[in-house]
Amino acid sequence: MRSFFHVQDIGDLDTALQEALEVKRTPFAWQQLGRNKTIILVFFNSSLRTRLSSQKAALNLGMNPILLNVNGDSWRLETELGVVMDGDKSEHLREAIPVIGSYCDIIGVRSFAGLTDKEFDYNETILRQFIEYSGRPVISLESATVHPCQAFADLITIEEHKDTRRPKVVMTWAPHPKALPQAVPNSFAEWMNAADVDFVITHPHGYELDPRFVGDATVEYDQMKALEGADFVYAKNWSSPLDETYGQILSKDMSWTVDARHMAVTNNARFMHCLPVRRNMIVSDEVIDSPRSLVIPEAANRVVSAQVVMRKMLECL
Ligand code: CP
Repeated sequence: MRSFFHVQDIGDLDTALQEALEVKRTPFAWQQLGRNKTIILVFFNSSLRTRLSSQKAALNLGMNPILLNVNGDSWRLETELGVVMDGDKSEHLREAIPVIGSYCDIIGVRSFAGLTDKEFDYNETILRQFIEYSGRPVISLESATVHPCQAFADLITIEEHKDTRRPKVVMTWAPHPKALPQAVPNSFAEWMNAADVDFVITHPHGYELDPRFVGDATVEYDQMKALEGADFVYAKNWSSPLDETYGQILSKDMSWTVDARHMAVTNNARFMHCLPVRRNMIVSDEVIDSPRSLVIPEAANRVVSAQVVMRKMLECL
């Protein structure tokens, strides 16, 4: 595997899920595979789960993880080409990326959407530079448009907890005080479309995700109707993906907050969220604290998904 952005990059999904179970059973079985190999994890943005789970996955594989917090530890990096660098950015990605590549075997990058220039974000301008100039396999640790390690962990969690062969999975938009990127819902949609589930997306008007990610999913604007009979409820906020309102908050309608009233119309659904979550904005305390909430096992599976991906990359080095 040369890069990990999209569901196709993982290869056959059933095989990947089997590998995930294998990793869970014997997490240290591939210690020799990563021996004397280094992964550099570059963070342009904050993280708790991705930062820790990626390091843990690398350590389980016998690798040496090195973390770089851009804007914190390093020089501030210019990401746009052709600019006069007379501001506060001391180094350009054009030099920084090949230097980082020369110190490691694999690179992971977290680089959120700026939400001001849709073309810049949806072209994955920063990630593409890492692929082009590093000479190394690159993992998206949530880039402008996708968060594949999260979506893979979500799918593993659904596989582990489903009671029916083909569960109904509903991804619902929920309110949030800040404008958030579309990477998590994009990837969740992409992976659910590739999996054997009945997938429904619900959100207010103006939050339509890119058709490339929505695929064949059912889009239902009536949230309660969408949730009827759901086996899994996946809550997430995202800002407007549309050209004319890109990155804006169009609604803070608190009736979309997932609470007991919403869960009551489901098939005793499991609740999921990628975390971090704003309690009583996205989901009520009652729902997230209930025994049907999967948010902790879902986060724990981030080590598993990262380890499967890194293992596949190591096998191709
Ligand atoms: N879900 C997730 O990616 O969490 P962090 O932002 O804390 O890494």
